[in-house]
Amino acid sequence: MSERTPREWSYWTVNKLQILSDYLPAFNKAAKRSDERLYIDLMAGQAANVERYTGKQLAGSPRRALESDPGFTHHAFCELPKNAGALEDNLRRTYPHKTFDVVPGDCNSTIDSVLRRLKPVSWAPTFVFADQQAAEIHWSTIEKVSRFKPTTSRTKAEIWMLVSPAMVIKGATGSGHVRFRERVSMSYGTEDWLRIQRARDRKTISGSEYRREMVNLIRKQLSEDLGYAVTHSIPMTMQNETELYYMVFATDHIAGDNIMSYLYNKAAQREPGMMKQARQLAAEETRIESGQLSFLDVEIPDPEVSGETLWRPEPHWEPSSRPWW
Ligand SMILES: C[S@@+](CC[C@H](N)C(=O)[O-])C[C@H]1O[C@@H](n2cnc3c(N)ncnc32)[C@H](O)[C@@H]1O
Repeated sequence: MSERTPREWSYWTVNKLQILSDYLPAFNKAAKRSDERLYIDLMAGQAANVERYTGKQLAGSPRRALESDPGFTHHAFCELPKNAGALEDNLRRTYPHKTFDVVPGDCNSTIDSVLRRLKPVSWAPTFVFADQQAAEIHWSTIEKVSRFKPTTSRTKAEIWMLVSPAMVIKGATGSGHVRFRERVSMSYGTEDWLRIQRARDRKTISGSEYRREMVNLIRKQLSEDLGYAVTHSIPMTMQNETELYYMVFATDHIAGDNIMSYLYNKAAQREPGMMKQARQLAAEETRIESGQLSFLDVEIPDPEVSGETLWRPEPHWEPSSRPWW
């Protein structure tokens, strides 16, 4: 199976994947008394990824899960058929002794077979990564993973999902917006989000309020409809200060809450330095392209990391408390 062209990732993806790399071993350490630990990746991505500007190889989520130490005992990697074959070839070559399934197809359909296969170990601590681009993952899929563990379990599967109101508003207002809005309704499992969309369409709320309300609605649903004890979110911000997406975490476990809170603050501390570095590298790329600078003269400084507390947990609010709801 031929490898696809590597995907170029920006600093916000590097920052997101660093959280994943730091969280997975901590999750497995906290769950080490369990003989089984499950990782489900609803959107596993491509085998080859590189960092924008630096061209550095960047491991995607499947590799980070497979390299977690302590590790998971079962891994399911869902991905569209166009990428799944090359991803599987690459992972089998790189991790010949690991137990994993690459599951080709739309994760909203394949989730049933994934969960059926894992059913005998459904009592095990489970981490689910829902790394979507805009609104591809149906709420019913999120609901299924949240109900996967037996009702007698003290905790549900942990869910870490990407929520991107910035991508949603692009699709919801561009050409083809009718079909796209239906897709977004599938991803929320309700049309409630349209109340936020209409408030934005009427300019009753700002773009930044829209993004916060859209993420808050997902958190409210995770917490009140699916019953998660704790949810957190952290924005991942572009150089123009727009939150491109938020990483939303849902857990029933105090350890999950504590570890992710710590890692969200670390990610918030890394972000300004990563942003500054990206700006410098972009400027240098322009100078190289115009012949003012040689590629060999470029030095890539390590991004600075702040020591301040830059992220704190905040509860979600009741969306219908807004006057425009
Ligand atoms: C943001 S990327 C995931 C990146 C990956 N988690 C990583 O860390 O490298 C989203 C991926 O989802 C895949 N995808 C899109 N729709 C999908 C669907 N309905 N089911 C499964 N995969 C899908 C895309 O092919 C793409 O590779």
